[in-house]
Amino acid sequence: MMKIIRDIPSLRDQVRRWRHDGETVGLIPTMGSLHEGHLALVRQAKQDCDHAIATIFVNPTQFAPSEDFDTYPRDETRDIDMLNGLETDLLFSPNVDEMYAKGFSTSVAVSNITQCLCGAARPHFFGGVVTVVSKLLLQALPDRAYFGEKDFQQLQVIKRMARDLDIPVDIQGVPTIREADGMAMSSRNKYLSANQRKIGATLYQVLQDIATRLTAGEHADAVLLDGAATLKAAGFDPIDYLEIRDSETFEPLETNNGTARIFAAAFLGETRLIDNIAVRAV
Ligand code: PAF
Repeated sequence: MMKIIRDIPSLRDQVRRWRHDGETVGLIPTMGSLHEGHLALVRQAKQDCDHAIATIFVNPTQFAPSEDFDTYPRDETRDIDMLNGLETDLLFSPNVDEMYAKGFSTSVAVSNITQCLCGAARPHFFGGVVTVVSKLLLQALPDRAYFGEKDFQQLQVIKRMARDLDIPVDIQGVPTIREADGMAMSSRNKYLSANQRKIGATLYQVLQDIATRLTAGEHADAVLLDGAATLKAAGFDPIDYLEIRDSETFEPLETNNGTARIFAAAFLGETRLIDNIAVRAV
């Protein structure tokens, strides 16, 4: 049975014992409402490390007041069953007071690569993410930590934070897990009506179409205009961004440079969906 810990000293104590025995630890930070995408992270951690620790914490500091912190889907009992099914060793599930003690006044900020895409659309977001992730890394001191490529900019921002702060952890990205129709798995897909869920797959189709045309040598401007028009016609409104950028520097690109990635974020009704794919190098 998976051990469930809700306080930082007990987490540290367990990890210290494992490390004393020369065993490695993989950390999978999540906000719960788990799906196959999260389970892929747990499977990878179990394959690479002696012990897998999942964390569930719906982090208030990465939500703006107007966003869905209160309604974010929470079902810890179901999440625990899913984690037990994969023989996860430990769940760390602290409450807000454990993570943000009274008088908490420190935040971590990554500049540069946080200025575009989700950082531009949600200015509070990456500060909240890197602050909570750096806390989780320092609390658990894992050998490796796992994040999905669905949130590709988040993954790169976390890599940069760990490198810049000399946190001794290997940050691993795991490919996006998709539904049969290509839609990226996300906890927020639960918000969609049946009809919106069908339309949702258009986001991935548009990314694929853009990638194909870029690989064939077309210029970014034309393919992005067509992609945005297809999204609008399908019912996505507003489109936060549909852009082609370098996958490491996040510089905007006009053609396929071999490390290009297409990024999209758009609303279907009240639900903001994001996705991204790599453009095949020619
Ligand atoms: O991707 C998420 O679920 C969250 O942003 C993370 C990394 C767990 C930090 O709260």
